[in-house]
Amino acid sequence: MKIAILSRNTSLYSTRRLCEAAVKRGHKVRVIDSLKCYMSINQDKSSMHYKQGEVLENFDAIIPRIGASITFYATAILRQFESMRTYPLNQSIAITRARDKLRAHQLLARKGIGMPITGFAHSPSNTKDLIKMVGGAPLVIKLLEGTQGKGVLLADNEKMAETLIEAFRDLEAFFLVQEFIEEAKGMDIRCFVIGDKVVAAMARKAQTGDFRANIHLGATAETIKITPKERKMAVQAAKIVGLNVAGVDIVRSKRGPLVLEVNSSPGLKGIETASGLDIAEMIIKYLENHAKPLNGNVNG
Ligand SMILES: Nc1ncnc2c1ncn2[C@@H]1O[C@H](COP(=O)(O)OP(=O)(O)OP(=O)(O)O)[C@@H](O)[C@H]1O
Ligand SMILES: [Mg+2]
Repeated sequence: MKIAILSRNTSLYSTRRLCEAAVKRGHKVRVIDSLKCYMSINQDKSSMHYKQGEVLENFDAIIPRIGASITFYATAILRQFESMRTYPLNQSIAITRARDKLRAHQLLARKGIGMPITGFAHSPSNTKDLIKMVGGAPLVIKLLEGTQGKGVLLADNEKMAETLIEAFRDLEAFFLVQEFIEEAKGMDIRCFVIGDKVVAAMARKAQTGDFRANIHLGATAETIKITPKERKMAVQAAKIVGLNVAGVDIVRSKRGPLVLEVNSSPGLKGIETASGLDIAEMIIKYLENHAKPLNGNVNG
């Protein structure tokens, strides 16, 4: 196969590993920077152009590794490849759904996936009601633009919750307010889903004194055996969002597992290190078994 990897940097661990795995399995692979692509959208023949004018064509499959800050443009590039009948590991429409946290939460809730009680707001005039809606303090406040745990705060008491919400309101930021799952004790579980299987799972444990299990904030990772219920939930969540490959984050609560988030470009470094598995190769094998021209039935 001729495989494209949509990534801004060849030296990133995940990009490098996917290249290695593709080459090892006898494929031709090329890393493409979506911001250096430009396109002609044409009723007769759409085309993709690169850097100084090279025409990109005839890729059998494409692996999107799209950074949060360039979602808008990179998903448009991916969509163009899709209309040129290149098979995407994850479809652009699914990535768009996953990146919009509000939309993803609504989709998952509609299909009965358990999650912490969540309120979304922009400029709530009734702060007290918003707090009451998610069961009062302590509660978690998340800025929608935040990643790697940076925009995630814990309000211990009602007064603090009110103060933080009011501050975000004055900044005109979009945020969500969420029931705090205290019993998770700073641990979340990353389930790596490929197709209809969780191929690996790791527990991430926050540093002492923190409740956020983000590796970037010094959390540690180790393998964990997940329950059949967690397994099923992770696969379902990925399917609902429409992702073939996803990182589904779960916390363990008193009322069972709850989904925190579904990631459309899950990193390979943490999960390969923790599990010792060749996840990159599994992804390439998935493409070998599933890549076929999209036949024009492209969504969105
Ligand atoms: N409602 C909650 N109750 C308990 N812990 C939570 C809750 N929400 C988040 N956490 C902890 O905080 C961490 C960061 O939260 P989350 O994943 O939602 O934001 P993020 O990592 O900044 O966003 P992204 O994953 O999109 O980069 C989680 O991994 C989890 O450990
Ligand atoms: Mg996270």
